[in-house]
Amino acid sequence: MKGKPLVSIVSAGLSKFGKLEGLYGREIFAEAVKEAFDRCPNLNPKDDIQALFVGHMGESYEHQGHTGATMADWAGLLHIPATRTETACASSAAALRAGIFAVLSGLYDVVMVGGVEKMTHRTTAEVTEFLAMASDFPFEQWHGITFPGLYALMATAHMHEYGTTEEHLAMVAVKNHHNGFLNPKAHMQKEVTLEKALSSRVVAWPLKLYDCSLITDGASCLIITKPEIARKYTDTPIQIIGSGQASDSIGIYERSSFTSLIAAKIAAKQAYEMAEVKPEDVDVAEVHDCFTIAEIIAYEDLGFCMPGEGGHFIENGETRLDGKHPVNTSGGLKSKGHPVGATGTAQAYEIYLQLTGQAEKRQVKDAKIGLAHNVGGSGATAAVHIFRSE
Ligand SMILES: CC(C)(COP(=O)(O)OP(=O)(O)OC[C@H]1O[C@@H](n2cnc3c(N)ncnc32)[C@H](O)[C@@H]1OP(=O)(O)O)[C@@H](O)C(=O)NCCC(=O)NCCS
Repeated sequence: MKGKPLVSIVSAGLSKFGKLEGLYGREIFAEAVKEAFDRCPNLNPKDDIQALFVGHMGESYEHQGHTGATMADWAGLLHIPATRTETACASSAAALRAGIFAVLSGLYDVVMVGGVEKMTHRTTAEVTEFLAMASDFPFEQWHGITFPGLYALMATAHMHEYGTTEEHLAMVAVKNHHNGFLNPKAHMQKEVTLEKALSSRVVAWPLKLYDCSLITDGASCLIITKPEIARKYTDTPIQIIGSGQASDSIGIYERSSFTSLIAAKIAAKQAYEMAEVKPEDVDVAEVHDCFTIAEIIAYEDLGFCMPGEGGHFIENGETRLDGKHPVNTSGGLKSKGHPVGATGTAQAYEIYLQLTGQAEKRQVKDAKIGLAHNVGGSGATAAVHIFRSE
């Protein structure tokens, strides 16, 4: 399949991200689906969508499982096969892969993939506990370590090994808040200065408030088709040309490195090889900045810079909107927000806007190749997708 399109994306939808009081997850998902249908008037929602795959991390938030059928019901997609995928914070990248496999198998021509999470009605303590279920129970959760704590371990290791500083971490927050400020759907549309980020309260040292992603409600979806029929639905399809996914030990204590996510490196290698694309060919990327250190590690794992160089990469402005390698033009998980199950396909939504020239104030000039990097938990799952404009 080298360099060949796996599937085309003919439409995409994203709900507003934020604290969406009084709405159920299913209503938020329906908002994303409505946008995808509105963008694609040539598609008949009742007859054309043949299957739904939806990423959702946790039943605990809304006391609601059976997410596939629930979302299909509220999206007006009754009676089609509807299936939930779960790989922690990478749940909707897994939904996207399931959709790709379904189309590539020849069984379906048109499939919807997406993700959803409703989180903000629960307390931070509850959310922290629910999220921690994606880490190892006996050796991590049981001892009280949380995701901020696990990523803080990676940050201190990176600082120790490579001289990365708290300022480098804060620079990621400043950049992503700037991009999120330009994104009307972002949870926190607010610029942040380096001083403010650095002086914010410590959550798990060296990670401070502005080094952490947001607890967010949101949903996202994509409509994917066989490439040969994409133009029946839109004049501006984009193609997915590479897809990779890998896993690693559930506990980070068993890993050979704290400064790199092996699963992300393997997933990236698979996606690059399939797409016949090199890191330097990528015009725009959305990466999994659940904590600022995760974005710095992502630069290195994706080959945008050498191992250990991530701190200098952000410092030199390489990943700003006007830099050579714009990263997280949406605002990322830091500012757009991180409704965990929705994040993977929300990243693909931003790439869809960028490659079809619809990203408005965040538009990267002449963007033709895009990449999305989605991580589950502390890196026990990672998925990478590569996209090309047609
Ligand atoms: C960082 C965190 C602990 C803060 O939660 P909190 O202490 O309960 O904060 P609150 O919700 O009470 O908000 C207090 C203020 O901080 C702001 N705030 C909350 N989280 C923020 C964040 N991540 N970044 C910036 N500001 C944030 C709120 O908007 C609020 O501002 P206001 O006083 O101007 O209204 C929480 O956002 C968090 O756990 N984030 C990480 C989520 C996570 O682990 N995701 C999975 C990753 S694998």
